[in-house]
Amino acid sequence: MNVLIIHGPNLELLGTREIDVYGTTTLAEVDERCEQEARELGIGVRCVRHTSEGAIIDELLAVRHTYDAVVINPAAYTHYAYALRDAIAAIDLPTVEVHLTNTHAREEFRATSVIAPVCRGTITGFGAESYALALRALCALRNA
Ligand code: DQA
Repeated sequence: MNVLIIHGPNLELLGTREIDVYGTTTLAEVDERCEQEARELGIGVRCVRHTSEGAIIDELLAVRHTYDAVVINPAAYTHYAYALRDAIAAIDLPTVEVHLTNTHAREEFRATSVIAPVCRGTITGFGAESYALALRALCALRNA
């Protein structure tokens, strides 16, 4: 199984961005955690980061026949990006939405996800472990 992991906007600033909210783990360390989990699970992962919604959509459409599943942290796009939602619905790959923070315990606007209804599931609030848990869930689904 090959899984594409997509990080949305501003996540490249992890480690220095709002440390009280996001902690000191960098995006490189998140990617390392994903790669470690993938090795343990015996699957392939590729991690990419895009700032624009259009670039994320282009990536999803480009990989739809070559990858088996997607893990995506849409960052702020989570809350309003209908074109991204439509792309995830269109590609028909099992997709897990992940968040580092518990979006339900923050500002009210973060509790809404327009992406969640077209995903297989959502994992929120466990830092880098949210991504590792998403990989485990996708493997469990595949072996079910
Ligand atoms: C985030 C939560 C979003 O609300 C926010 O815009 C982000 C990060 C998270 O991983 O906790 O950029 O997706």
